[in-house]
Amino acid sequence: MTFGYRNLTLTDLPAIRELSDSMDIRNDPKIGDIAEPLLQDPKTTLFGVFEDKLLVGVGGLRNKGWELAWIESVRVHGDHQRKGVGTAVFQHGEALAREQGYQRVGFQTVTENAGSCRIGEILGFERKHEMTALWVSPENIPRSEDGDYEQEPISTEEALAALKRIPNGPKDEICIGWSYAPITADYFDSQPDMKFYLQDETIMLEYHDRDPNTKEVTFVKAILYGAAAGVEGLLSGFITRNGKLGLPLVPLCAKKLVPHVLKMGFQYATVWTGGHNIVVLFTKDLQDA
Ligand SMILES: CC(C)(COP(=O)(O)OP(=O)(O)OC[C@H]1O[C@@H](n2cnc3c(N)ncnc32)[C@H](O)[C@@H]1OP(=O)(O)O)[C@@H](O)C(=O)NCCC(=O)NCCS
Repeated sequence: MTFGYRNLTLTDLPAIRELSDSMDIRNDPKIGDIAEPLLQDPKTTLFGVFEDKLLVGVGGLRNKGWELAWIESVRVHGDHQRKGVGTAVFQHGEALAREQGYQRVGFQTVTENAGSCRIGEILGFERKHEMTALWVSPENIPRSEDGDYEQEPISTEEALAALKRIPNGPKDEICIGWSYAPITADYFDSQPDMKFYLQDETIMLEYHDRDPNTKEVTFVKAILYGAAAGVEGLLSGFITRNGKLGLPLVPLCAKKLVPHVLKMGFQYATVWTGGHNIVVLFTKDLQDA
């Protein structure tokens, strides 16, 4: 199938809403609702894939302020899935990233999303580390074990050194939930809602995540890397500091730390299939090809 491609504009909103209405539950957030701000966002190029004149796929290429271009907001018309449109959307996102001079392009999805994971594989993206999301609702916040959990955040400089040193630390980028950030002092020094805590060979990034529109904190993430030994102490401090905020608490960590997080009273977050919400990053080096 030969598709047409072009950047979308505000005049395409009716077609984007029609595509959005054709989709099932895996249209979250609904592209029909988020397209207008994306079209007005100078950091995003929203583009369409067309079959004849019909908009069958949408994708966005975001400038995240570092060398990694980010493909996001990918949606395929409900009546046109499994016909190569999704592959074409990601392929065009990659082509735009090349055109715009990026060194790398990436996207994140969840392991339960068999379609986007397969597309990453087909297009030669490298499948990077997986982070399992767990959570607890404000009503069920576990009591932290008795002990002294007065912890002070560490400096960015200490955190960057620890990230290099700890076992299975992040290499090129760090998970910040359902997105990734560069491991640089400039980035973390400009993020007042992110703080690092360190215990033994375990590091935790505590992140008060805000709603982009209201700017209210909506949940608090604890992103854990490293050894299992420090998980309990770090999460006890996390619960002590944040447990009374009336917000969901959301740890994310590699598979081998999951049993230690479950033991603290958190449960698996799930996705539309009922399966675990495991975030996976795909990246591709554009300098090689
Ligand atoms: C995921 C999505 C983009 C895939 O688009 P698509 O047009 O159906 O994908 P393609 O036809 O290009 O398929 C590419 C490959 O993925 C496989 N695939 C697609 N959907 C699949 C599914 N639900 N389960 C298993 N495999 C799937 C295809 O079989 C094909 O693999 P193959 O060549 O080995 O047979 C589309 O289903 C969608 O819009 N989903 C909802 C939103 C979403 O998940 N966006 C991506 C977020 S990262």
